[in-house]
Amino acid sequence: MTVTPDLPTDLLRAHAEDEYAAELAALAAADDRPRPPRWRLSPWAVSTYLLGGELPDGTTITPKYLGARRLIEVAVASLATDRALLLLGVPGTAKTWVSEHLAAAVSGDSTLVVQGTAGTPEESLRYGWNYARLLAEGPSRDALVPSPVMRGMQAGAVVRIEELTRIPADVQDALISILSEKALPIPELDDEVQALQGFNVIATANNRDKGVNDLSSALRRRFNTLVLPLPDTLDQEVEIVRTRVAAIGRSLQLPADVEALSEIERVVTIFRELRSGRTADQRTQLKSPSATLSTAEAISVMTNGVALAAHFGDGVLRAADVAASLTGAVVKDPVQDRIVWQEYLETVVKDRAEWTDLYRACREIG
Ligand SMILES: Nc1ncnc2c1ncn2[C@@H]1O[C@H](COP(=O)(O)OP(=O)(O)OP(=O)(O)O)[C@@H](O)[C@H]1O
Ligand SMILES: [Mg+2]
Repeated sequence: MTVTPDLPTDLLRAHAEDEYAAELAALAAADDRPRPPRWRLSPWAVSTYLLGGELPDGTTITPKYLGARRLIEVAVASLATDRALLLLGVPGTAKTWVSEHLAAAVSGDSTLVVQGTAGTPEESLRYGWNYARLLAEGPSRDALVPSPVMRGMQAGAVVRIEELTRIPADVQDALISILSEKALPIPELDDEVQALQGFNVIATANNRDKGVNDLSSALRRRFNTLVLPLPDTLDQEVEIVRTRVAAIGRSLQLPADVEALSEIERVVTIFRELRSGRTADQRTQLKSPSATLSTAEAISVMTNGVALAAHFGDGVLRAADVAASLTGAVVKDPVQDRIVWQEYLETVVKDRAEWTDLYRACREIG
C-alpha cells in the first residue's frame, strides 16, 4: 500500500487505498479466506469491498459499485487467473472507478496507471531511458526508466491501462507478449523482467470510441471482457447519483442539502428519457441529443447545482440551481441539440404539473 502516514488531509482527491484505508484494514483483519499470491485480500473480501457489506466486528463497508454482484465477482475471479481484465462500456459506467478500486483492494496500490491516448508511446508500456545516465554510463539497469507495467510485473501488482483503444495499434501490440509470456525483454541489456505472481492488468475501453483503434484479435484473446451496463432502473441510477454527490459534496465541504432526492430524480429521469428516446410512461417518442447523458454527467450536473445552492443560494437545492448545468449537459451541439432540448421542454417538461419550476428555470436560461 502507498502508506503515507503523514498524508495531507486536504488533498483534492485521495487515492482509493488511502481514502478507504480503514475499510481495507478492517477487511484484511476479518478475512480468513485464501488469498491468491500477493493479494492483500481474498477474492471474497475484494468483492465485499466493492459491493459493500457489514463485517462481523461491526465495520460497515460502503458500496463502491452499485449494480449486479455477479459482474464484480466475475471481474475479481478473472484477476485471479492468468488472463487480464478488460472493462468495456459506454462513457460514465464506472469503468475507471471500478478498476481503481479493484487495484486498491487487490494490490493496495491503484497508482500503477498508463493513460491511453493517441500519443501513448511504447515506453509507457515497456520502459524508457534516463538519457543523461544512458550517455554517461551506457545502458544499465540504473539508466532504465520502468513503465508502470514493468513496475507492476516486478512488484506482482495490478496495473491499470486506461482507454486502451485510444493507444495506437502497434503500441498496443507491446502488451501481447507481456500478457502471454509474462515477461518483458530488455534487449539492450540482454536481460528481461519476469512478472511475479500477483501481476495482472485491468484495461478500460469506451465502446463509443469504436473505430479509434480497435483491439487486435490477438490482444483481445488475452483479456476477459466484461461489459459494464448503464443502470437498469431509475431507482438504481438515482441511488448512484445520490451517494456520489453526497460524497463529493463532503470532500469539497459544500454545506448544502444534498439529500434533495426529488431534484436528483428529475435530472435522472430526464437523462434516461432522452437517452432512450422515450418518456418513462413509454407514450411519447423523443429525439435523443448527441451527448451521452451518462450517470457520470448526472453526478456532475447535481454537484454543480449543489455548489450553486451552497454559495449563491440558501443551501437548498432548487430547480434554478440545476437548470444551467442541465442545459449544458444536454446541449453539446448548439444547433441540433438545442432543437431536441426545446422540443423536450415544450412537450414533456411543460406538461408535468409538478415540474413547472424546472420548466421556468430552463426557459430562463434559454
Ligand atoms: N454503477 C455505478 N456504481 C457506482 N458508481 C457509479 C456507477 N456508475 C457510474 N458511477 C459513477 O460515475 C462516475 C464516473 O465513472 P467513471 O469515470 O469510472 O466512468 P467511465 O466508465 O470510466 O467513463 P469514461 O468512458 O468516460 O472514461 C464515478 O464517480 C462513479 O462513481
Ligand atoms: Mg474512464
